[in-house]
Amino acid sequence: LFEEIPRAPPDKIFGLTEQFNKDENNKKVNLTVGVYKDNDGLVTTFPTVSKAQKMLEQDEKRNNDLSYLPIIGSPTYRRSVLDFLFRESCPSSGPKLLEENRISFVQTLSGTGALAVAADLLSLFISRTVWIPEPSWPNHINIFKRHGFTDIRTYPYYEDGKLCVDKWLEHLRKNVKKNDGIRHCIILHACCHNPTGLDPTREQWQKILETVNELKMLPIIDMAYQGLESGNPPEDAYVLRMCLDESRYKWSHGLFLCQSFAKNMGLYGERVGSLSVVVPPNQPETKTNIESQLKQIVRSIYSSPPGYGCRVASIVLSSPSLKKEWHKDVDFMVQRLLDVRHGMCERLGWSDLVNYTQQHGMFYYTRLNHHSLNRLRDEYSIYMTMDGRLSLSGINDHNIDYVCDAFKSISRV
Ligand code: LMR
Repeated sequence: LFEEIPRAPPDKIFGLTEQFNKDENNKKVNLTVGVYKDNDGLVTTFPTVSKAQKMLEQDEKRNNDLSYLPIIGSPTYRRSVLDFLFRESCPSSGPKLLEENRISFVQTLSGTGALAVAADLLSLFISRTVWIPEPSWPNHINIFKRHGFTDIRTYPYYEDGKLCVDKWLEHLRKNVKKNDGIRHCIILHACCHNPTGLDPTREQWQKILETVNELKMLPIIDMAYQGLESGNPPEDAYVLRMCLDESRYKWSHGLFLCQSFAKNMGLYGERVGSLSVVVPPNQPETKTNIESQLKQIVRSIYSSPPGYGCRVASIVLSSPSLKKEWHKDVDFMVQRLLDVRHGMCERLGWSDLVNYTQQHGMFYYTRLNHHSLNRLRDEYSIYMTMDGRLSLSGINDHNIDYVCDAFKSISRV
């Protein structure tokens, strides 16, 4: 019986790290996964997070509480994250939503957990169709496929080294009939698009949101990199702010926000994130009903979330002085990523690395073809994902010449 189970392919991102770990070349460079490393190639704890951890250690009662969290997560975490997302990041529209009790919220296992729980809820009750950018983070398709979606579609996002917003919108207009839109979800990367690192400008976003709104599609905002564009986390929630401007967009059926503190607090392995479902006005029961369903979904998969990482994040978010320092930590990371972009641009002449209006965050899309990527891996032990994405923080003063010399020796499409 068991032999009927076929082998699954290796994960497109983590699978390569497994291969990298086995590589014995002492010059090997891992440019695969989106994890921030410092100039010595180390994944370090953010200084603010270290402080929060120490504060937690000193708070014996809180630190020693190893009991279950509520199914939908820690109430303290919920308060601090809702405040961060909907008061600080969206000061003109968010507070009203909180006062009107229009946000169903659940603490999740980072952004992946938020997307999976969202997909479960949607596929159970609302929709099994989702539009995902092409290209996108490979796990998007994986998650929606495994959580009830039967109709996974892609919209063109990138062409010949550039964003193709007109083509994207034309494609939606052609393929989503207005009255069907209500059953069509669409994934929007809030900033620092993964894998291209290319984001629409604010003007382009306005056009995009107008179209999505007009077609009555259901937005799922994936905000995994808040802060990695500008260095200021609240600032980077601009897509959410634009969406929540109800004088402009009337989402007739609400929107989903999936967010995580993996990248902007370096809490990767602690799995700290959230799902917020913003419900339309004047539906007093909807928020509570949705939250009750989210509760059932979580209970059926992992019962309740883990407690440690969310305590650390809550401490950072609820102390005004620590929060200020956190913004500095995020900005420090952003500046280092910019230095890497400049260093590579100087050596290779790839000027699109430093196009500030559109290129942001941890990733750069090299447009290297499979042949070149295989050569980089086999001849130089430089590992990149096979879509040509380069995780910039893997580059540092010690290996930048080695990596750029290797890039010069292979060809770009
Ligand atoms: C990435 O894209 O490398 C990260 O988001 C890690 C992951 O979970 O894939």
